[in-house]
Amino acid sequence: MFTGIPEAPQDPILGTTTLFNADTDPRKINLGVGAYRTEDGKPFVLEVVREAEAQMLKDLGTKCNKEYSTIDGPPELKKQTQGLLFGKDNEAVTSGRIASVQALSGTGALRVATEFIKTHIAKGGDKDIYVSDPTWGNHNAIFAKAGLTVKSYPYWAPATKSLNIDGMLAALGAAAEGSIVLLHACAHNPTGVDPTEAQWESIVKVMQEKKLVPLMDSAYQGYASGSLDKDAYAVRLFLSKGFEFFMCQSFAKNLGLYGERIGMLHIICQTPELAKVVLSQVKLVIRPMYSSPPKHGAELVMHILGTEAQYAKWQQELEGMAKRILEVRDLLRKGLEAKGTPGTWNHITDQIGMFSFTGLSQAQCERLISQHHIYLLKSGRISLAGLNKGNIQYMVDCVDEVVRA
Ligand code: LMR
Repeated sequence: MFTGIPEAPQDPILGTTTLFNADTDPRKINLGVGAYRTEDGKPFVLEVVREAEAQMLKDLGTKCNKEYSTIDGPPELKKQTQGLLFGKDNEAVTSGRIASVQALSGTGALRVATEFIKTHIAKGGDKDIYVSDPTWGNHNAIFAKAGLTVKSYPYWAPATKSLNIDGMLAALGAAAEGSIVLLHACAHNPTGVDPTEAQWESIVKVMQEKKLVPLMDSAYQGYASGSLDKDAYAVRLFLSKGFEFFMCQSFAKNLGLYGERIGMLHIICQTPELAKVVLSQVKLVIRPMYSSPPKHGAELVMHILGTEAQYAKWQQELEGMAKRILEVRDLLRKGLEAKGTPGTWNHITDQIGMFSFTGLSQAQCERLISQHHIYLLKSGRISLAGLNKGNIQYMVDCVDEVVRA
């Protein structure tokens, strides 16, 4: 029965960890998956998460238990996570016109959103979804699986290593009315290049003119600027302009809850009545897919967002992570410039978030992997969190070597 099934290739992002783990060279560095690492190169469990875990253990059997969650997740979690993105006093939040469901992190939110779009917006027919070129590799696969037609808009200008805003606006201007547009809320993955506030305004304008529907992916709130509120700028802009839109939210990176698969899907509707109907239909997407969401990550998030002191502490820890990444950016740029490595390296410090889109060619990336045990994406994306003071010079020396090879 299974004869003839071809073996699938490794996932281009998660597969780098498999290759890294199998490598026995002590100099190896993993810059593949976007996951925060400490200065010692270790996974990081935030102090607020440790404290929430301890509290949960105390509450087990009284305030919390292991019963099934509801299909859409706890109401308290919905209010808190809406507040985090949109501002807790925003009219959309207080009036109840946002239909929210807990999701299996950002990926699950995107999958549920696009399944809903295919059924209720495309009504089973064709629907174009525009993604940035480049985008997070899994976006394309998620949307294609949901049966949408994936198209792209220009985003990255390789010559200037910056945003191709004219190309982006032209492509959106030429999209069919009602198309869905995937936007990265902040800290664009993989380029680390976000539109400026003025550029966001231009994007809003063309999307209003063409009646395009935003599907925003917020996986790095707090990582771009270190401030949760500042990083919600684009989200709140679209909200203020009266769009009905889809908002996917992940707590993998900013709370370090990668393996807990905790996120949210928020659908911003024009009225509370519409939100009620939309929610009922989203629940029909979820029930046959995975029935109901896991409780553990939800409990952690509710504890942290629901306790003022914990929330403040989280912001501090988040700032700490963002700061360490900025330091590493600086060290990498300075190291390459000090060595006189051919090319310009200012983009490393101009870019923001967890990644740098280095501009290294596929051949140079392959050489870094095969000759130097440095694992990165073949697009040239590196997760800066994998660098630290202990391995930065090795990284600089190896990048210098492959650039000159
Ligand atoms: C990444 O881009 O590295 C992360 O979002 C992890 C993943 O699932 O690909």
